Amino acid sequence: MTTSNYTRHIRELDNANHLHPFTTHHELREKGPRVITHAEGVYIYDSEENKILDGMAGLWCVQLGYGVEELAQTAYETLKKLSYYNLFFQTTTPYAAELAALIASKTPDGLNQMLFSSSGSEANDSALKLIWYYWNLMSKPEKKAIISRQRAYHGSTVAGASLSGLPFMQGIFDLPLPRFHHIGPTPCFYQYGEPGESEQDFARRCAKALEEKILELGPENVAAFVGEPVMGAGGLMTPPDGYWREIERICRKYDVLLWSDEVICGFGRTGSWFGCQTYDFTPDIMTMAKGMSSGYQPISAVVLNDRVSRPIIESDTEMAHGYTYSGHPVSCAVAIKNIEMIEEKRLVGERGRAAADRFQAHLKALQEHPIVGETRGVGLLGAIELVKNKETRERYSSAGETGVICRTHCFNSGVVMRAVGETMFLCPPLIISDSEIDELFMRVTRALDLTFKDVRGA
Ligand SMILES: Cc1ncc(COP(=O)(O)O)c(C=O)c1O
Repeated sequence: MTTSNYTRHIRELDNANHLHPFTTHHELREKGPRVITHAEGVYIYDSEENKILDGMAGLWCVQLGYGVEELAQTAYETLKKLSYYNLFFQTTTPYAAELAALIASKTPDGLNQMLFSSSGSEANDSALKLIWYYWNLMSKPEKKAIISRQRAYHGSTVAGASLSGLPFMQGIFDLPLPRFHHIGPTPCFYQYGEPGESEQDFARRCAKALEEKILELGPENVAAFVGEPVMGAGGLMTPPDGYWREIERICRKYDVLLWSDEVICGFGRTGSWFGCQTYDFTPDIMTMAKGMSSGYQPISAVVLNDRVSRPIIESDTEMAHGYTYSGHPVSCAVAIKNIEMIEEKRLVGERGRAAADRFQAHLKALQEHPIVGETRGVGLLGAIELVKNKETRERYSSAGETGVICRTHCFNSGVVMRAVGETMFLCPPLIISDSEIDELFMRVTRALDLTFKDVRGA
């Protein structure tokens, strides 16, 4: 079969029976999907033999890059030795026990007890149920409201979508469920700061919205506040200076549990093992997935601090929650190997810092580009705001058309960059080398040039 015939064949098969996540299907079926056939290091390859630098680490997850022999071998050896066993009915496996110990050695002090699942959404479902359960055990059954933020992304199960602050993924499914509240402004100074307002004042205004919501609902009714240390899928928004300190203070003041969704920020993405360490706050609950196995196996966890876990451990009631694949041996073995390799390669440490410095220097330089209003980032996360007018921050389009044009130019320039509205994101594998970082930004610059050429008359 020629390359094009093969692509056509796969597209026909896909169009016939396959519904994709987060997709407008009639559009996809008219155009046909891009077919990714293999990947190596930081590059993915499609069925038309295009080699594309993956600036998004898959879906924010491939910390070690693609095709790592050691991870593949670990999966294979574990599949042969213990292809599956569950953790129900008073059993464990060496893999689950060792992974729990390893993660507890990386989380902040006091966050020691964890339950495994397979995806970020499931980890968040678990966290939510365990928070409600905790307050029931504390004889405060009325303390059930969850406060989240506008534009947050916490997954797409019923709970994940209810926690998220993105109306387009809620209304069509009759969500959010009751008990979920979303506050604004979203903590992104560039997008929501007011003229003349300092970053610190903006941080205080965002945090004050939490305090006001707690007081409106009554502190006795509020179970937890949830946030991503850096907001990811909603627009890659780094928090304003001082924001998390203030959020932590308010949570403590009203006895509201603080829940850090580390699904993107975990495992070295922001320069530390976890985003809460980069931003210097200590949550009561953490959820994590993605970089936990570099995406080689589906695995996630909710981690509870001693305060929340103790009553659950001491209770005579069965904690009737968990999944068939909680702590799957193959996923646990791969996650252990992945974390060990992140350590060996000093991706949280020396090499991670050097890569982040180079990446952030390139990102900052892009601010000079005529179509760029702001760039921002931390670690190996970066956002680029596309604007028509740098002074007024006016956009070329209100519905994200420029972002889509730029994303297409990225693919055609051999790089994956994601768009949300008029904001472009980068989140490359942590193993990206210096020369690959240079290549990444050379390709991104080309895509920005082409985008500017297309829209500047508009
Ligand atoms: C912060 C955050 N939480 C939760 C999720 C959901 O994870 P999953 O897609 O594995 O269910 C995501 C996915 O992107 C995420 O970014």
